[in-house]
Amino acid sequence: MVRAVIVGSGACVPPNQVTNDMLSRIMDTSDEWIKERSGVETRYYVDEGTSTSDLGLAAAVEALNIAHMDKNDIDLIVFATMTPDHYFPGCGTILQYKMGLRPVPCFDLRQQCSGFLYGLQVADAHIRAGLARMVLLVGAEVHIGFMPWTQENFEYAIGRSETPPTKEEWEWNSRFRHLVVLFGDAGAAVVLRAAEDDGRGLIDHELHGAGADYEKLYVPGTGFKHRPYTDPEQFKRGDHIPVMDGRHVFKMATTSMVEVARSVLQKNGLAPSDLKLVLMHQANKRINEYCTKALGLREDQVPHNIHKYGNTTAATIPLLWDECARDGRLQPGDLVLMVAFGAGMTWGASLVRA
Ligand code: ACO
Repeated sequence: MVRAVIVGSGACVPPNQVTNDMLSRIMDTSDEWIKERSGVETRYYVDEGTSTSDLGLAAAVEALNIAHMDKNDIDLIVFATMTPDHYFPGCGTILQYKMGLRPVPCFDLRQQCSGFLYGLQVADAHIRAGLARMVLLVGAEVHIGFMPWTQENFEYAIGRSETPPTKEEWEWNSRFRHLVVLFGDAGAAVVLRAAEDDGRGLIDHELHGAGADYEKLYVPGTGFKHRPYTDPEQFKRGDHIPVMDGRHVFKMATTSMVEVARSVLQKNGLAPSDLKLVLMHQANKRINEYCTKALGLREDQVPHNIHKYGNTTAATIPLLWDECARDGRLQPGDLVLMVAFGAGMTWGASLVRA
């Protein structure tokens, strides 16, 4: 039987590190509040002009190097992102072009924080069905375009301008403070290759989607429910910035992540202690601490990096995979469960032997 094995990973974190104290220069927030409520200490943002496909490109090139694979062997690109470079086309073909690949099939998945796990299942299905032998799966986001502040405010926050925000700008930025302090930009990628089953590879997946609560986490404006799909009024209202009912999302995330993790473990006859690592989506450290406890996991099984990068949506899980693979916490043969919850609402878990 053929299995999809993750044979390499790569990541790209942009250059502009923004601390919580920097954000508190342009809105009503504090390092203490952000750290205590979310675990985030810093996040990184791209320079103007850098897009999601650029982060994906850098991560993909690194993943191919680690995998010792030739780019010409890639026969499918799956790009998970909710912040594509353009409304259309998606980032998949843009990445294909930037990498100089043959015209392989390319597509985007818009499953937000669960996008990488949806991508793993799609890659696995293609490989098992014999439709592809090597798949490039990317999760990348440039969130800074969602941020309410002006470029001048941003320059002031990071110490490159002397001009503080006006009272109106300060109030406007503070209106979104519960949301904007959580996010950062990053890209990460894995290469999956078909291999004869020797125990390694993707084992099982369970994915869910339920739209009843979609308005608890969504972007109200800039969509084709409106005519035209974007206009200055939407921007004045702030409808281009995501709406998030944080408490509701927190409750749904903890419940769903625990349920789906238990379900995958049970179906595969595994106990939490059989896992080497559980890579959880990095949205809020408190969500993951709750899930760790509820699932009876040890702390050393559940790595975190939200303190460094914040929530990078589709990139969090491959970014964490890459970090653990590089520092030795993740070794070939280790049993790993990945779990995520995101907007949509969407959630899922994937079991893999590294
Ligand atoms: N700085 C200071 N104070 C703040 C900030 C801030 N950045 N944000 C909110 N507050 C204030 C609120 O105004 C409120 O003040 P009040 O009591 O005077 O009204 C107080 O802090 C508490 O606010 P809550 O919203 O109740 O705080 P909570 O403990 O729930 O933490 C948070 C908020 C961090 C957003 C949390 O609910 C959370 O992380 N939720 C889940 C987010 C998530 O998982 N998103 C999904 C991923 S995104 C995706 O899929 C694309």
